[in-house]
Amino acid sequence: MLEIHDIHRQWDHRPLLAGVSLQVPPGRTVALLGASGSGKSTLLKIVAGLEAPERGQVRFDGHDITAMPPHRRGFALMFQDFALFPHLDVQDNVAFGLVEQGLGRSDARAQARAMLQRFGLADHARSRVWTLSGGEQQRVALARALITRPRVLLLDEPFSALDAALRVQLREEFGRHIRDAGMSALLVTHDEAEARAMAQSAWQLHDGCLRALW
Ligand SMILES: Nc1ncnc2c1ncn2[C@@H]1O[C@H](COP(=O)(O)OP(=O)(O)O)[C@@H](O)[C@H]1O
Ligand SMILES: [Mg+2]
Repeated sequence: MLEIHDIHRQWDHRPLLAGVSLQVPPGRTVALLGASGSGKSTLLKIVAGLEAPERGQVRFDGHDITAMPPHRRGFALMFQDFALFPHLDVQDNVAFGLVEQGLGRSDARAQARAMLQRFGLADHARSRVWTLSGGEQQRVALARALITRPRVLLLDEPFSALDAALRVQLREEFGRHIRDAGMSALLVTHDEAEARAMAQSAWQLHDGCLRALW
């Protein structure tokens, strides 16, 4: 289980996170809502290990991982600028994490193709990522995030660059893939409908503190 315990973080001498605690049980998606500038991305970066809190801990399965570097946490990130590798084709983008973990390239590609099949992208395996539509690119980004079976999936406004109809379609689809993968996920969004479609519980970040929404 992912546990965020009493996280404090200042910005510009103002408290941005003032004692934030939150738990994400295995297999559950928890949504984090809040106005722009309320500190949602900062909290996600602290969970990922990209920023450090001034006080408080991030724990996983009871272990304090607050000081552990990002790549050792086994967490996958999917941020709004999805940052696929433009010089790699779709299949190698998806295979990337497996190759990094030491799997041979042909095995990694075979797993990537199986994943792309599940995501309805099999025909695009050899395409350059920039030839795909925005929605297809987000599907590739999720496939790439899930293929290493991360312990936790962190999503920061994953659909904010997409039009409304596509957002509705992708949130159903992504919710299903995340449930199938049995992943703990923390979803940052400012869209309550998106949170309802994807998350089993939700919190609102306001004035540095969390309030339970549902
Ligand atoms: N590295 C940073 N550079 C500039 N501003 C930052 C940085 N980290 C935090 N902030 C400030 O902290 C506040 C919260 O930012 P953020 O966590 O991105 O909020 P949210 O994701 O909820 O919109 C913003 O007002 C932002 O200006
Ligand atoms: Mg943000």
